[in-house]
Amino acid sequence: MDNEYRLQMKGITKQFPGVLALDDVDLEVRPGEVLAVIGENGAGKSTLMKILSGALVTEQGEVFLDGELIGPDKTPRERMELGIAIIYQELTNLDEMTVAENLFMGDIPLKGRVIKTVDYKALWARSKELLTRFNLPYDPFSLMKTLTVAEKQMVEILRAVSRNVKVLVMDEPTSSLSETEVAELYELIHELKDRGVAILYISHKLDEVFAIADRVQVMRDGKCVAVHNIGEVVTEQLVELMVGREIEDMYPKEEAEIGGVVLEAEHLACQIARDISFNVRRGEILGLFGLLGSGRTEAIEGMIGKLELEEGTVRLEGQEVSFANPIKAKDMGVAYVSADRKKEGLVLMQTVAANISVTMIDELVKGPVMDFKREAGLVEEWIGNLNIKTPSPYVATESLSGGNQQKIVIAKWLLTSPKVLILNEPTRGIDVGAKVEIYKIMEDLCKRGIAVVMISSELPESIGICDRIVVFKDGYVKGEFLRKDFTQKDILHVAVGADKQ
Ligand SMILES: Nc1ncnc2c1ncn2[C@@H]1O[C@H](COP(=O)(O)OP(=O)(O)OP(=O)(O)O)[C@@H](O)[C@H]1O
Ligand SMILES: [Mg+2]
Repeated sequence: MDNEYRLQMKGITKQFPGVLALDDVDLEVRPGEVLAVIGENGAGKSTLMKILSGALVTEQGEVFLDGELIGPDKTPRERMELGIAIIYQELTNLDEMTVAENLFMGDIPLKGRVIKTVDYKALWARSKELLTRFNLPYDPFSLMKTLTVAEKQMVEILRAVSRNVKVLVMDEPTSSLSETEVAELYELIHELKDRGVAILYISHKLDEVFAIADRVQVMRDGKCVAVHNIGEVVTEQLVELMVGREIEDMYPKEEAEIGGVVLEAEHLACQIARDISFNVRRGEILGLFGLLGSGRTEAIEGMIGKLELEEGTVRLEGQEVSFANPIKAKDMGVAYVSADRKKEGLVLMQTVAANISVTMIDELVKGPVMDFKREAGLVEEWIGNLNIKTPSPYVATESLSGGNQQKIVIAKWLLTSPKVLILNEPTRGIDVGAKVEIYKIMEDLCKRGIAVVMISSELPESIGICDRIVVFKDGYVKGEFLRKDFTQKDILHVAVGADKQ
């Protein structure tokens, strides 16, 4: 085999029951190169990487590392020792373990000749050194569950880096990172490139692809449809290659009739969120924009009873309310789709149909009887509406691609026909085509008189789709813009603060 390449995959094919996930796919990456792998939800990106890591097995196709064949029988552990590391889309670290244990999982320093015990001193020192090298201020012995999602992700990346890595796969690494953390990640990637590591970078964010990749490989329906040097392509081309058609209008904004105030917050305080007041009207899409950690999520989660509200008043249709928990809020018509959908939104072992219909169970069950026909109808309808890629509604949700799982969470809440639908980062991890579908659904809901609140860290999306944007910074509401006054510069100015433009 050709030694120009650090990694070569040839003719990889993978069949799942009912789905040909990969169809004769080739992939090549050189030492010190970043190859971006892009494609719609369900295109086969994660499956290809799982075959590389050994998490999935296929007999069809060959993998070469530095010209040496790696047999399909090599276990994930053996592959890791050979230098293949993967950071999965779904975090795999364990909440009850310490940062240090997560960093050195499977390689914990031991002491003692006869009875081996963990050498905590060495473990602490090695962890501290690694964390310091990458400017991460965490205490090695703090529990993972005390870290934010972003921090956990950094730990996971470091775990891979701490091994003698030759090929590093990152499956949507930035989906929950703040801008500074993304910058840190890029720095880390540059350092790894200098050391000759080959990097496979999966992302739905094309600006990242242009920022970090040397080449880009586009996948569609289990096939590789194009490979380009990054200097030779533009965004529109990549989008067209991914979805197989042109997307004329990324933000299909339609004006709906805006009515009276439905939900209102006054002087709320919850964790870092302080003195938060805003309202949302019938038929309106209200954007809550701000950087990660600006208090948007805390304000909303305090409002719907997920976090403890320290101060303030919430009014629903003019009546003061106090939601004991998100279920109570949902029952009264305020539905919340959290950002951490993996953890909260889905039961992965259950079927797609069960996940979608669970919020409707009261209506679907008449006396002792479940109306399966009605369930099937509703489920089919939403699978169609959101273009969810699944061989059937009755497969385990777990077997769907990451983005398709997210669409299910959204479908699930849309089915409750709420008065107010609050979406936290609704398009994170979702491909461009599906994003447009979700925007359209939000528009449709508005036309039906529902009020929509969208928390988003993506400014183009907020500007494209919202009627009004409330801007958060450092726990406070710092500004409010009407659609006619939206400009990227002004909104960012408020969100970032005048001092660091
Ligand atoms: N364990 C499995 N069992 C059955 N089908 C699967 C399994 N894993 C993946 N699939 C199917 O294979 C196809 C490719 O999925 P994959 O997860 O590779 O997509 P992806 O490109 O990573 O998408 P996303 O951008 O949404 O993460 C999908 O149709 C998915 O439903
Ligand atoms: Mg994936």
